[in-house]
Order: sequence, then C-alpha cells, then structure tokens
Amino acid sequence: MSKKKYPVKIKMKENEKPLSESDSGTMLVLENLTKNFGNFKAVDDVSLTVNKGEIFGFLGPNGAGKTTTIKMIAGLLKPDNGRIDINGYDLVKYPRNCKQETGYIPDRPYLFEKLTGFEFLQFIASLYNLAPETFNKNTAHYLNLFDLEDWRHHLIESYSHGMRQKLIISSVFMLELPFIVVDEPMVGLDPKSARIVKELFKSHAAKGTAVFMSTHSLEIAEELCDRIGIILNGKLCASGDLAHLQQEAKLEHSDLEEIFLELTGAYELQEIIAALRPTK
Ligand SMILES: Nc1ncnc2c1ncn2[C@@H]1O[C@H](COP(=O)(O)OP(=O)(O)OP(=O)(O)O)[C@@H](O)[C@H]1O
Ligand SMILES: [Mg+2]
Repeated sequence: MSKKKYPVKIKMKENEKPLSESDSGTMLVLENLTKNFGNFKAVDDVSLTVNKGEIFGFLGPNGAGKTTTIKMIAGLLKPDNGRIDINGYDLVKYPRNCKQETGYIPDRPYLFEKLTGFEFLQFIASLYNLAPETFNKNTAHYLNLFDLEDWRHHLIESYSHGMRQKLIISSVFMLELPFIVVDEPMVGLDPKSARIVKELFKSHAAKGTAVFMSTHSLEIAEELCDRIGIILNGKLCASGDLAHLQQEAKLEHSDLEEIFLELTGAYELQEIIAALRPTK
C-alpha cells in the first residue's frame, strides 16, 4: 500500500507567509508613515496606496521627504511610526517576502566597482533566485537595449554615470518583479535611454507591475503616471489623478506645473523671476 502523501504541510521559512493570502489588487499600502531624524520630521504621517499595474508618481520640492519615503519602502530605513505593506506583506513582519517582490532603483548608482557589469547582474540574479534561462534571456535583452553589450566584461569602475544607471535599471527589469520602487529614474540618462526607460515602465505596468516613482520631471509624471502624490515638508498634501489634483488646487484647466507650484506654495516664484530678469 502506498503511503498517503497529500495534503502536504509546507514548512515555511522564517518571515514567510503563503502567497495566496496576498492576492488583492493593491501592491503598496503606506499607513501613517513617519520618519524622524532627531527632532526633525522628514516624513510626517504619510498614507497612500498603489495598485497593481499602476504607475504612481511621487513629487515634491528638494528635501520634501521623497527619498526618505522610498528608502523606507525599500527596507533601507526603519520607520518611526506607521506601516508599510507590500503585496499584502507587512514589511516589519515579513521583510524577506517584501524584498523578494521589490526592485529598487536608487537615486545614485553606487555599485561594486571591482565587479564587471555582468558579474553584478549575476550577483543580483542570485540574490533573487532568478531562473538561469530567464537570466540569460533578459540580460541579453537589456544589455543590448542599453548599448552595454560591449561593456559587460569591463569593471564597473570604468562605467560612466549613465552606464551605471542603465546597469542598475537592467538589473531590476531583468528580475520581472511585481513591484518597482524608483528614485529619480531619468537623472543622467541620454535622451534615447530615457525614452527606452519610459517605455519599459509603461510596458511593465501594462503587464501588472506596480511602480512607485519619485521624479522632478513634471513632463515625465504627466506622461507616465496614473496617479500622483505631492509631498511637502514631509506631509502628503495632495494625491490623485490629474483631474483630482486640478480640483484640489482649484485650477480646473491647468497643467501639472501650475498645479505643483500652487500646491507646494511657490507663491514668491513670480517675484523671483521678475527680480532676475535683466532690466533694459
Ligand atoms: N540621514 C539623514 N540625517 C538627517 N537628515 C536627513 C537624513 N536624510 C535625509 N534627511 C533630511 O530629511 C529631509 C528629506 O530628505 P529627502 O532626501 O527625503 O528629500 P527629497 O524629497 O528626496 O529631496 P530631493 O528632491 O532633493 O532628492 C531633508 O531635509 C534632509 O536633509
Ligand atoms: Mg531625493
């Protein structure tokens, strides 16, 4: 008589919970997220959600709290208060699950200088247990797409800023993850690469990937983002699609630049511009 094999009780590793419990349309939930540096509140009670397949743009003036928020979502900074859920996993309770679902593209491409580009991609692929056939297919695709093919066996120390940025972007897209968090993706990219990156975000979102993106480019935000959140002095001061932001700003037919300037209180800008203009 054969032994009864099922149902099998799957032994979960520490910090894991079954994927079926996280099956909803929401990818990211931030709830009352707060981060202090000493007495200074860099992120102050921020709550928002990002849905699967959605590109969410995170805008705000310099020092508003965008990178601090993104570093908390990527698991690099610990919040002082509030909650982060990624695909149904609480980041504090299930950090490993959250990190397995998340690709992080930082604002500055710090990389291991003594690895070659290809070795870096292999290293990232091994962290995420990427299947070898997916790795081979995707590295060939992205290295070719970003004109890095001839540089794959050169040390990263010989790469320019833009090449490093393209290598990190390739490393995240090759993983085919459900969630990408990205801080200023287009800085340092040439126009062709920037165009490619925009298309990659759009095509991955169309396949269900959620993207949380900070940017100072209002043109990129308007073109790519389904919804936008504006952060000012650590507080989320508005969030929604363009029509909603127009209502919030009471600027019904205005573009994102006018809305952004209105909501972030750049009232004195006209005076500054006038003062800077050469007098005849
Ligand atoms: N490690 C830190 N220690 C102390 N203060 C910090 C630290 N990191 C960030 N801050 C402060 O927190 C605030 C938010 O910084 P953050 O980098 O999140 O801004 P940002 O919105 O990303 O700005 P930018 O558009 O210039 O990139 C700033 O006032 C910054 O000086
Ligand atoms: Mg920043």
